[in-house]
Amino acid sequence: MKIKIAPSILSSDFSKFGETAEMLERCGADLVHCDVMDGNFVPPITFGAQAVKAIRPHTALPLDCHLMTLHPETHIADFAAAGADIISVHVEACGAETVKRLLEIRALGVKAAAVINPETDTEALFPAAEVADMLLVMSVHPGWGGQKFIPESLKKLQKLRDFCIRIGRDDLDIEVDGGVTLQNVRAITEAGANVIVAGNTVFGSADIAETIARLRA
Ligand code: DX5
Ligand code: ZN
Repeated sequence: MKIKIAPSILSSDFSKFGETAEMLERCGADLVHCDVMDGNFVPPITFGAQAVKAIRPHTALPLDCHLMTLHPETHIADFAAAGADIISVHVEACGAETVKRLLEIRALGVKAAAVINPETDTEALFPAAEVADMLLVMSVHPGWGGQKFIPESLKKLQKLRDFCIRIGRDDLDIEVDGGVTLQNVRAITEAGANVIVAGNTVFGSADIAETIARLRA
């Protein structure tokens, strides 16, 4: 499967999102990962749809909006209008309505993804696998960049990829988010992830283009 690299602007300079998006496109990124935090689902507050709208004209790259919010149903339309290409919602926030949320996102012409936190079982994503454009496995506790990759996430990725193959969705994108480094990325892709979020690894490096290329290789 094609490996796609999604640098998270959470680890970038918050006063320069536009320039950063332009730079990421020049440096060969595949997506721009936008970490939206509401101060409720996770303690910090980052930014919302208005920031996504401001970034939109600066890049042709897909904007991958990861909503770490309660009540995602109240935000979905705003992010779609702001120019999001992918909207990811947490199973922990949507509960039994996860599939319904995904269908609502798709009805707005936006790709829909479901996310699970480290303490949530992989099986919680199975119903979403039938309708989602992408599935996302958090490999750190959401809220902060720069944490250590939780090794159990590899088993979850493997289980999820096996399930997707079993239901005939072999080429469903599986994204991994948190603690990805140049050292662990191979094990992560071998386990079944093909969309790789990286915050600190990308923005903490001296040569961003080279780091993106090495993550992909
Ligand atoms: C965590 C965010 C991640 C985070 C990844 O809540 O969802 O996207 O920014 O950052 P690193 O790669 O530094 O773990
Ligand atoms: Zn994220």
